[in-house]
Amino acid sequence: MADTFTIPAIKASAGQYEAALRLTRPEMAHIEPCTTYVDARTYLDDAVFDREQTSLFGKLPVPVAITQDLPGPGTYKSIEVAGVPVILSRPRDGVVKAFLNACTHRGTRLIEKGECGASQKISCPYHAWTFNLQGKLIGVPREEIFDRLERDRYHLVELPCAEAGGLIWVNLDRGARVDRDSIGAELVHDFESIRLPQMRIFKTQEYDLQANWKLVTDAFLEGYHVTRLHAKTLARFFVDAPQMIERIGRHLRQTSGSRRGFSAADVKQDWNELRKAVVYAYIAFPNVIVVTSPVYVSVTILTPLARDRTLARYVMLVDENDPSAELLGVYERSFKLMADAFGNEDFKAAELSQEGLRTGAVKALTLGGMEQGVRYFHDLIEEHSGVEAPRGGCR
Ligand code: FES
Ligand SMILES: [Fe+2]
Repeated sequence: MADTFTIPAIKASAGQYEAALRLTRPEMAHIEPCTTYVDARTYLDDAVFDREQTSLFGKLPVPVAITQDLPGPGTYKSIEVAGVPVILSRPRDGVVKAFLNACTHRGTRLIEKGECGASQKISCPYHAWTFNLQGKLIGVPREEIFDRLERDRYHLVELPCAEAGGLIWVNLDRGARVDRDSIGAELVHDFESIRLPQMRIFKTQEYDLQANWKLVTDAFLEGYHVTRLHAKTLARFFVDAPQMIERIGRHLRQTSGSRRGFSAADVKQDWNELRKAVVYAYIAFPNVIVVTSPVYVSVTILTPLARDRTLARYVMLVDENDPSAELLGVYERSFKLMADAFGNEDFKAAELSQEGLRTGAVKALTLGGMEQGVRYFHDLIEEHSGVEAPRGGCR
């Protein structure tokens, strides 16, 4: 039962702990005045969107799902990366695989959009060729109608894939390697330290947003809006103070102090204590946002669909498999709060930005001293895709 369940002591990573300690230093209270810019075309141009799809989403290990999306051996899920349909599967050995979602007979898509299932095999809807979750062709109806059919040449086309830090990462580049190092060992270590791979899905919600995917991400990379846009929801948990943003490999970690009193004495290595005093927001580059809280972790997976359309899948992860009625109530209220804060506020702000930018009134977005995380994110995109944006100002 939940009330007799003991949460094992979990230690935050050294990086998380030190970032929180640094945030308590007096000099961190000072905000360095600063002005930089992001070219509005980065959110409006089809050419920019296409280049990002090719250079970021087509070349990097992209986080596309969470571990619990494939909850056990014999499960599969259909996802999209840069418009390419992909099947994720967890065969009997438990090691996640990724395949192009196309039957090797005549090319039919095997699993429809958004579908997931529990089975050891996948059958094509057209002529019922059947594949196991290792991608091997295991069944061909009326096989005698082919005078030669070497089954080995008809296995599904596999993509490099790995499961790390509670996320599933796929690279569309078939020659690439996807492992802990190519994903980013420090990010993976941070997520493992807070037991993200062991957490379970409480609830999910999907949002089809009329906004560029980067406008959604930008909202999670600055604290300037928190006590303003979220005045009715999250503001009460936060102080209007600087956050600390660090690059960890090609990913970003933002550390913020919560309102529940925050000094060096509140910074504990025990994760269950630390998470009460500090909120960590990560960009698992390029498209996943992970935000911690005292009782749950929010994961948002963004799938860019067009320059002004993004699918955002919000997942709330919790520790308890069998929560008490009281804890269940906390989870339910938290989910509602996050649906409000993310859905009606952050995501809504991204849509409003898209609408305003479309008018052409603003050629470059201006970023101040509390918005430098946005600058870091756009710098990373520039590094990995060659899409340039003017920066100006202090950095
Ligand atoms: S196209 Fe899949 S079995 Fe024919
Ligand atoms: Fe926000």
